[in-house]
Amino acid sequence: MKTGNEKLKDAKYGSASQIVSSVGLPSVFPREMGPNTMKYLQEVVDSGLSSDMNSRFEKILAEAHGRKYCMLTPGCTNALFALFTALDFQPGDEIIVSPIADYGDLCGLLFENYIPVFCDTEPGTGLISARTIESCITERTKAILAVNFFGLPCDFDPIMELAKKHNILVIEDVCQSILATYNGRLSGSLADIAVFSFDPEKTLGGDTGGAIVMDDEDLYNTIVNRAQARGAKDFPGFGRKHLYRGIAMRAPQCTAATCMANWEILPPQVENRRKMARLLDEKITGIEGVIPYHVPEHKEHSYWMYGFSVDPDKFTITPADLANELNKAGIPCGQGKYYVLPAGVPFLAENVENMVYPYNMPVASRKIDYDANNVCPEAVNFMDNWIRWLWTEKYTVQHVELMETIIREVCGRYSKQS
Ligand SMILES: Cc1ncc(COP(=O)(O)O)c(C=O)c1O
Repeated sequence: MKTGNEKLKDAKYGSASQIVSSVGLPSVFPREMGPNTMKYLQEVVDSGLSSDMNSRFEKILAEAHGRKYCMLTPGCTNALFALFTALDFQPGDEIIVSPIADYGDLCGLLFENYIPVFCDTEPGTGLISARTIESCITERTKAILAVNFFGLPCDFDPIMELAKKHNILVIEDVCQSILATYNGRLSGSLADIAVFSFDPEKTLGGDTGGAIVMDDEDLYNTIVNRAQARGAKDFPGFGRKHLYRGIAMRAPQCTAATCMANWEILPPQVENRRKMARLLDEKITGIEGVIPYHVPEHKEHSYWMYGFSVDPDKFTITPADLANELNKAGIPCGQGKYYVLPAGVPFLAENVENMVYPYNMPVASRKIDYDANNVCPEAVNFMDNWIRWLWTEKYTVQHVELMETIIREVCGRYSKQS
């Protein structure tokens, strides 16, 4: 039976819900803040809220990713809202989405009555590919939303090639993969559009926040008009008229200030995340039943989270129970099965069954399947055997050695071999 306080902890979200490790592994919070944080916040205050903090950080982010335009938003969910509001697809049009993603990937497209279609992931990766996307393309497909699972980019070149052939827009979800690379190019520059999250627990954690970057000037202007000016245009002698059902997705200046200050200290932080993650990969390689995550040569992971797969046949308990035991022993891990969106968002299947708009036909061109075991069996299988935890730049060699000891001991205790 849970106590009141435990229930309250469960109900919380973000920084308030962080579990501190019982063996002294550091938590993501409190975060190290960039040395210029107070300077930038002071500028916002000194300017009487008229600073150019947003446009400065927008310029930095756009330039870093080789993009012409950037708009800051209060989060990535909001960035996608802004984008889908501006895209002018028709209700019932289909967006192919990674099945291992966050609800924020669906929110904006659902409010526009577009239909998410989940493709599967490649075995052992959690990532969608041109191969898994192709069979989901129909004449209603308008866009692909590809999530760079836990910090590793998808193989974007073949995805872009496929999308070009079918005249489909590709959106890269960089929330978990800032400063990761693919063929030497930065995540955020790999598709037509990229969206970012600066949620406090993300790799670039700010005081929440998000962003959208792109090169398409018309689309950018439409997004700014609809998501900042709420679809309004000024008419001389009258004032503003709302020519479109606009929304307000403006980022606060203090958010831009904290994000910009933390962006400045990000590269060495990601480098340390990588170094420590690679070290743990090495140390757990060879433990019976433990399968380290494979990072191919042409990619660099940025490790928002760290994880490994387990072979369920090698243990006397289930992967879920093994994750619990590791957690009890001090590794702040779990499984995260809720990330499999067709399973984690049950109202989608209910809406199909009840023919709720836009799933009535026509508007939808066909009956959409949201049974995760049918549409993305690899993703389900991957997440069933996956154990992961939030990674942090605070980890040192000693922390990694401690993790190795715990993993060895717990996995040994439940190994069928022992
Ligand atoms: C892959 C992915 N997409 C979207 C989001 C939503 O981001 P935000 O919380 O900034 O709205 C998240 C946040 O967890 C995420 O991990």
